[in-house]
Amino acid sequence: MIAEALLYAATVPMTQKAHRKFIRYSVNLWSRANRCSRQWADHEANTRQAILSAMAACKQRRTAVVLGSGLLRDVPIRELAAAFDTVVLIDLVHIATVRLKMRKKIYRNVRLIERDLSGYDELADGKAPEPLGFLRNVPYLDFVVSANLLSQIGRGVGRRFEAERERMPDDTAEQLIAAHLSGLARMPFKSCLVTDVSYAVIDCNGKPHEEADLMHGAKVPDAQASWAWPVVPTGEESPDYQVIHQVIAAY
Ligand SMILES: C[S@@+](CC[C@H](N)C(=O)[O-])C[C@H]1O[C@@H](n2cnc3c(N)ncnc32)[C@H](O)[C@@H]1O
Repeated sequence: MIAEALLYAATVPMTQKAHRKFIRYSVNLWSRANRCSRQWADHEANTRQAILSAMAACKQRRTAVVLGSGLLRDVPIRELAAAFDTVVLIDLVHIATVRLKMRKKIYRNVRLIERDLSGYDELADGKAPEPLGFLRNVPYLDFVVSANLLSQIGRGVGRRFEAERERMPDDTAEQLIAAHLSGLARMPFKSCLVTDVSYAVIDCNGKPHEEADLMHGAKVPDAQASWAWPVVPTGEESPDYQVIHQVIAAY
């Protein structure tokens, strides 16, 4: 708890006022990722490998953008920084430890941007959401990675949607997830999508009790790889169940 409180306090002054309410989610993620590091290791290695495989197909390596860079646990940042002229990391929050790490000499070409990538505000204004439209203005963009972000957009949107149900369309989460997918597919850069697409709550006899589509019905592209990610291993929340997410990588 002390480490979490210190990380929180160090991150607040480095974060835009509008995004400070999201710091607790990043600190919670940091805490759970540390506690579950053994069970998450394969998922993180698989994600890094998918990004490196996609990167290998990039003929030009000028600018790379990572969407949902978060704690940089599943992002091969050292290799990206070595391969590209510029690497741009985008997330709602960059925690203090990530900001400090990026001050090292080998990361001199890495930029950090805080941005809401959901497109929720555009949709709330009655516009067709284009959450990745801003990428058109990124000079010399050759590679875009969506790094275990998309299901989190669905979850974050879900929280806001419940509070603002009357003014938002019923299919808000599906529209925003579909807009992210079409933004990645339509633009003239190489992309790598890694996302968890579903989850199941499984009891100690291996019986599934609750399953959900994290893409809210939006159609994901064909995957080059897929794997299971024990987001909540047995013992993390209860000795009686675990929560397993299915992850895909498409590039
Ligand atoms: C599961 S984490 C991804 C892990 C990260 N790639 C890593 O290596 O640690 C999801 C990330 O998405 C970010 N995120 C969630 N909703 C977002 C939004 N609307 N806009 C930008 N980032 C968002 C969270 O802050 C978090 O860092």
